Amino acid sequence: MHFFEYVDGQLHAEGVPAAELVRRFGTPLYVYSAATLRRHFEAFDSAFAGLPHITCYSVKANSNLGLLKLLGQCGAGMDIVSGGELHRALTAGIPASRIVYSGVGKREAEIRQALEANILMFNVESMGELERLSSVASDMGKTARISLRINPDVDPKTHPYISTGMKKNKFGLDIEQSLAAYSRAMTLPGIEPVGIDCHIGSQLTTLEPFMEALDRIIRFYDRLKGMGLRIEYLDLGGGLGITYNEEEPPHPAEFGKALVGVLKDHPMTLILEPGRVIAGNSGILLTEVVYTKKTPSKDFVIVDAAMNDLVRPSLYGSFHAIKEVTPKGRPVLNVDVVGPICESGDFLAKDRDLPAVEQGELLAVFSAGAYGFTMSSNYNSRTRAAEVLVDGDKATLVRRRETYDDLIALEKDALNG
Ligand code: LLP
Repeated sequence: MHFFEYVDGQLHAEGVPAAELVRRFGTPLYVYSAATLRRHFEAFDSAFAGLPHITCYSVKANSNLGLLKLLGQCGAGMDIVSGGELHRALTAGIPASRIVYSGVGKREAEIRQALEANILMFNVESMGELERLSSVASDMGKTARISLRINPDVDPKTHPYISTGMKKNKFGLDIEQSLAAYSRAMTLPGIEPVGIDCHIGSQLTTLEPFMEALDRIIRFYDRLKGMGLRIEYLDLGGGLGITYNEEEPPHPAEFGKALVGVLKDHPMTLILEPGRVIAGNSGILLTEVVYTKKTPSKDFVIVDAAMNDLVRPSLYGSFHAIKEVTPKGRPVLNVDVVGPICESGDFLAKDRDLPAVEQGELLAVFSAGAYGFTMSSNYNSRTRAAEVLVDGDKATLVRRRETYDDLIALEKDALNG
């Protein structure tokens, strides 16, 4: 459910016509809906009301400070994977006591930064990281609260690039290794094992893989208890999928009910790290048709957004719905919607049935709020898009469009050699 709707034949973001946003801020333009973000957060968070829990929004999905601040005001904690994300979360006013830090390659400086901030917990992914964390924390006279990320070897049945909890993936430690790692953690200075962590993948559209992983984790938890470890936190990661096209993922309420059912007799604080399910359908990408082009074999709609703005179709073959901002009831053509970048992999949609749109008009690419702007780049020296957060009738430019000066700002010394 989102608040991008047609009113009087015009696509609106909440109370503001999309066309008006484009007049003010240009294209390509990411537009986020505050009401949708709040609604998604509350739907997710309230699903776990039966248990002590922290919903740590996964910053990587969309790290704009405006969104982080809004979600923080809703009570969100944050799941981070880099020093940069920590910087963003703290800048947006998120209390460090609600921040968890995941990721396979935390560098020493990032570990220091997180210890300095006194975050809630590090999700440790290797023995090397555990040893390094111990030595950095001891050196700083601090104690790092940790969980170990368990790789439960469960197939999440999603795109291979975003499957993370199978044996062949680089993430976490397998169950037997984890047991040894907890024993080691119990003896290491500067380390306090307080949790168990697991994240098996993203865009999951059924409950089964989550439940299978949970079952393995709970059995593991019992073994840890047997070792005399007191586990306070169970972090089950993120991964709940959304509808891009015809997927029918479980509603957060159903997801919550299933987890709460299993966990109610285990006295732990549950941590969840949802990203996509909060941000994905809270954002659209507005783009202008630059040209239409007919060739003997194909019809192309060439738009001013490209794979540098939204890479998901090129990278994963992902589907994003594309609609006219002002529908006009025209006949439907089968087209490729492509960007201006010099690669045939630069497309937003392939073989898509779309009304016969015209040069100069606006299109909206849906479900672009998660892994849209955060994965964007300056490829082809394209300036990155602007981002706007709409709340009711108010539109705030939460990131201005990059300029040519921004593009070359870090290369000032390049011409002085
Ligand atoms: N926690 C951890 C440790 C993660 O690695 C991820 C996502 C999440 C939470 C949030 O997962 P979500 O709830 O958003 O599914 N770029 C890809 C998605 C990559 C996901 C990486 N990890 C895409 O555009 O589909």
